Amino acid sequence: MGEPTNPDSAPAHRAAELRSQLRRHDHFYYVLDAPEITDAAYDALMNELKRIEAEHPELLTPDSPTQRVGGKPAEGFQKVRHSRPMLSLDNAYSSEELADWDRRVRELAGLLPVEYMAELKLDGLSVALHYQATETGGARLVRGITRGDGQTGEDVTSNIRTIRSVPLTISAETLNKVRLPQGFEVRGEVVMPEAAFQRLNEEREQQGLPLAVNPRNAAAGTLRTLEPSIVANRRLVFFAYFLLVEGEYWPQRQRATLDALAALGFRVNPHRKLVSSVEEMSRFIDQAESERAALGYEIDGVVLKVDSHATQLRLGYTGRAPRWAIAYKFTAKSGITQINAITVQVGRTGKLTPVAELTPVFIGGTTVSRATLHNADFIERLGLLIGDWVRVERGGDVIPKVVEVVEDADHPRGNLPFVFPVLCPECHSEVVRVEGEVDYRCVNANCPAKLRESLLHFGRRSVMNIEGLGEAVVQQLLDRGLVHSVADLYSLKKEDLIALDRFAEKSAVALLVEIDRSKRAGLARVLMGLGIRFVGERTAALLALEFGSIDALRSATTEELERVEEVGPRISQAILEFFVQPANLALIQTLKDAGVDMTAERKTRTDRLSGQLAGLTFVLTGTLPTLTRDEAKRRIEDAGGKTAGSVSKKTNYVVAGEEAGSKLDKALELKVPVLDEAGLLALFNAKSAAD
Ligand code: IVH
Repeated sequence: MGEPTNPDSAPAHRAAELRSQLRRHDHFYYVLDAPEITDAAYDALMNELKRIEAEHPELLTPDSPTQRVGGKPAEGFQKVRHSRPMLSLDNAYSSEELADWDRRVRELAGLLPVEYMAELKLDGLSVALHYQATETGGARLVRGITRGDGQTGEDVTSNIRTIRSVPLTISAETLNKVRLPQGFEVRGEVVMPEAAFQRLNEEREQQGLPLAVNPRNAAAGTLRTLEPSIVANRRLVFFAYFLLVEGEYWPQRQRATLDALAALGFRVNPHRKLVSSVEEMSRFIDQAESERAALGYEIDGVVLKVDSHATQLRLGYTGRAPRWAIAYKFTAKSGITQINAITVQVGRTGKLTPVAELTPVFIGGTTVSRATLHNADFIERLGLLIGDWVRVERGGDVIPKVVEVVEDADHPRGNLPFVFPVLCPECHSEVVRVEGEVDYRCVNANCPAKLRESLLHFGRRSVMNIEGLGEAVVQQLLDRGLVHSVADLYSLKKEDLIALDRFAEKSAVALLVEIDRSKRAGLARVLMGLGIRFVGERTAALLALEFGSIDALRSATTEELERVEEVGPRISQAILEFFVQPANLALIQTLKDAGVDMTAERKTRTDRLSGQLAGLTFVLTGTLPTLTRDEAKRRIEDAGGKTAGSVSKKTNYVVAGEEAGSKLDKALELKVPVLDEAGLLALFNAKSAAD
């Protein structure tokens, strides 16, 4: 990077340059987890941009990196030393290696009988949570620390607090039941469930941001986000597996630890088993592997821990890892194959995605013949040539990815550079790349690929949820000229469908029933289905909630739109633009005529998912740091919740502030979860994201 041009003489130019550099570094840091510059250098760029924007407010754009909360370096978090080091584990890759380890353990254990606790190896980040005594004999979360280098981690308490599987307080009664003192530490793994990961990437895609590569990186980036409300939205999950008191493992056995953690209200992975031979270990591993795809979160192996803490003490540690535990790693789900061609796919929004056409290769149980190359930058960064050999990875049921070029004596480089098309491969219209975005898009509003992808999007489970509206069906509907817009789905007749390949009376009726059912999906889903730019699941839900009907949304002004949480100038602009297009208005009218409900309903599945506090009762007590009692009450009620004056078994949450009185005692007595203001705010945010 050269000397900065004088920001005063060319501030606009310099701001654009800084934005582009910062975006690039965000990508390396947040997505690839491989920063190219130090945090300090990043901060210097960011500070320079902030200064320019402060001096020239007219240059501030809503998509400037200064306006984004995620992806910032971890400089904002304090370093904290762990009570005892957070170690890593030695690995085993075969049952022979497990047998060797088992033999060593038994030798060192002497006459003591050895049993092992087999647990899943969750592919996330380990964190340590510290709980301290409350005045009422319970315990409360005071600190959450990342693993860091194992000795020292970062204090990410405000983010950890937003993870709903982490109890914020534990009552005296519960502690007594487990016989746990009031001060203790819980260690475990923070993971990002696959659904949350996919949603995150859908949102990033809609916003023209580079996609996160895997749930673990996304979880790591999320935990380092400086804005807890964003973390709350990401739906991280914490699985607990260790309990420490004064830096020592507690109580006597790992099996008891896990049971105690579950009794304390932590999420403990149910896939666990006590085993006492290598055969039993292998059986557990086989089972874990077969259940892996259906878990909903990623695992990369199995951890085996000597069950008895006394035996653990006897075995001790080698350097960085305990002798009493080992990680059996699943063989990586990757393979090497050759790129025969690179094709380009056109998406719903006209976005062009390059796809590697591969010599088929068997990876993790399936044959892979195509893999996404994301965008032109990705190809450039890998320096990909057609004919190259590449490593392809498959994680969970995520689309296969090309991760690197392989080059050695058996795998010579390819020789044909890929040239990004200047015309849309489907309709031959011009393609353009909007400044500041990574993607090229087809400009033709009537591009047939857009229609096909829009129909597929419309039918998706998270959108109108029309089961059976898959690719083969959509393609036939288009080929036969039966649909020209999503609205045409509602005028399909049984005869139309029976005429399609592989359709009979029963399947035709089933699809018609599904299409009919989708009419009642509600406004939030319709808004998503319409494909308004930047309006993903969460924004659609918030808009539906605020405006209640498509007509109210349509007549909303910029100011009214921007009053909605998370709607800024960019989204409001996109909404206004959408509603001035005659074609869009005609589409809405046709959908209405077909009987599609365009109002927001309450207490339905959509509503529950879109995050109302409906059905929840809150009791407020004490003085909150920023919200007045009335404001807190109003926000709870706006979000569909109720407030009550006294605590009973029916109370879902007590929100306690400074000088909380007997209501807090009562809450602890009845084991009603207690939130502070931050916890309440996190709940609003967490609740307003889809489940
Ligand atoms: S025990 C000293 N149990 O794997 C004990 N770790 O390769 C170390 N992990 O840093 C941790 N699931 O991040 C343990 N059930 C589990 C685990 C687990 C995932 C991770 C953890 C650790 C890494 C070690």
